[in-house]
Formats: sequence, structure tokens, C-alpha cells
Amino acid sequence: MTTTPDVFELMHTMRAMRRLKPDPVPDGIIRKILDAAVCAPSGQNLQRWAFLVVTDDADKRFFGERYAWWMENRFAGEFAKIDPATAQGRVMRSARHLAQHMHEAPVLLFCCGRRDWPFAVAPEDRRGLAPPSYGSIYPAVQNVLLACRALGLGASLTTMHQMFEPELHAHFGIPESYGVVAVIPIGWPRGRFGPITREPAPRKTHFDRWGGRRPGLAEPEDAS
Ligand SMILES: Cc1cc2nc3c(=O)[nH]c(=O)nc-3n(C[C@H](O)[C@H](O)[C@H](O)COP(=O)(O)O)c2cc1C
Repeated sequence: MTTTPDVFELMHTMRAMRRLKPDPVPDGIIRKILDAAVCAPSGQNLQRWAFLVVTDDADKRFFGERYAWWMENRFAGEFAKIDPATAQGRVMRSARHLAQHMHEAPVLLFCCGRRDWPFAVAPEDRRGLAPPSYGSIYPAVQNVLLACRALGLGASLTTMHQMFEPELHAHFGIPESYGVVAVIPIGWPRGRFGPITREPAPRKTHFDRWGGRRPGLAEPEDAS
């Protein structure tokens, strides 16, 4: 019998899982992930999200080819500068591997958000297309990642599609009224889940005032 780990264990072991097996993920499991996604909060509970589940080989190849092209062309200079032995180098290698194998992921989940101007942009300053309300979509994205982790599925958050988003709209028939916020490749992991590497919370925390310290709780590294 499999047991679901507790939510804190899930969060502490939810690494970006970019090496995936091509084996299919049953619809019932995808549904469970989507049900978790729509539990998320959103501004005024408007739930202006929409999801596109892509499993067709030709469609995944269409996406993967463009993603890989942009990964190489946008980051070619960065790759050359980063020492592959460093933590940053490992992230780059892993992200590059995902780009080259994106089309093999059994599911690509497009997390979309309805476009809407933020309150802070005055009506007279609104030009062109409004962005999607990222703040109302990312909680759902995080729920997808947590649900995948709980189900033993590998997943990772990607945003490189921004470089060719108009092509996605044309290919998949996504209306202009929606923006694609994140694309999450999902599949059974090749690797193991393991501890994440993060700065301890107290280094990022201030107490009462910016720069304020409280041992064990708030020990900010940077008060500037
Ligand atoms: C807003 C955002 C955008 C990201 N975009 C990409 C991306 O385009 N490609 C990618 O491989 N990973 C992307 N990531 C994943 C991060 O690289 C990853 O979460 C981070 O390196 C931590 O990795 P870990 O969870 O394995 O420790 C993105 C993460 C966030 C939060």
C-alpha cells in the first residue's frame, strides 16, 4: 500500500524533476492533478485559469522543437560562462536536458490565465494586450506541482514558451484573451525525489523592521 507523505515532507523534497519516462499518465491521474489545481486561491475567487492538456506526439514535438531552439539561442552565451561543476551549472545542464527531451514527456500541461490589467495600471496607460494575472495563476501552478509530487509524478515549472507564445496561440487555438503562464511537463520520474537546496528561511526574514533580527527566526543576510 502506498501512503501519501505529509505536506511538509512533500515541500522539502519537491525538486524540479526534469528527467521523465515516456510512459503514459492515465486520464484519471491527470484529472486528480487538475482538481488540485483548481483548489487554489485566486483574486476575488474569479478562477480565471484555464488548462490545456497536451499528449499528442506531433503537438509535443512542435512545442519541444521550439522550446529547445530558444533554450540554445537565448542561453548559448550563458551556458558558455557558467562553470558546469557549480550549483548553477547543474541547473543549466538539467534545464538543457529537459529542453532536448521535452517532447518525450507524456503530458505537457499549459497553465493559462485570462488577461486583465492590474489595478495599478491606470486606464489611460493600458496599451496592447493585458498580461494574465500571474498572482492568480501561480497558486494553481504550485498545487499542480505538489499534487504531482504527492502522486509520485515528476514535474517542473517552465516559462521559456514566452519566447514563442504567439506560435502557441496559433497552433493550439488558444484565444488572445488568455496568456500562457507556465508549461509543466509531467511524467513518471527517472530520478529520485530528494532534499531541495535553499537558503534557510531566517536569512530571508526580517523582524518588526526591515533588517530587524530575532535569533532562530529572523537573521537577514541582506538588509539593503
Ligand atoms: C517563475 C519560474 C520560471 C521558471 N522557468 C523555468 C524554465 O523555463 N525552464 C526550467 O527548466 N526551469 C524553470 N524554472 C524552474 C527553476 O529553475 C527551479 O525551480 C529552480 O532552479 C529550483 O530547482 P529545484 O526545485 O530543483 O531545487 C522556473 C521556476 C520559476 C519559479
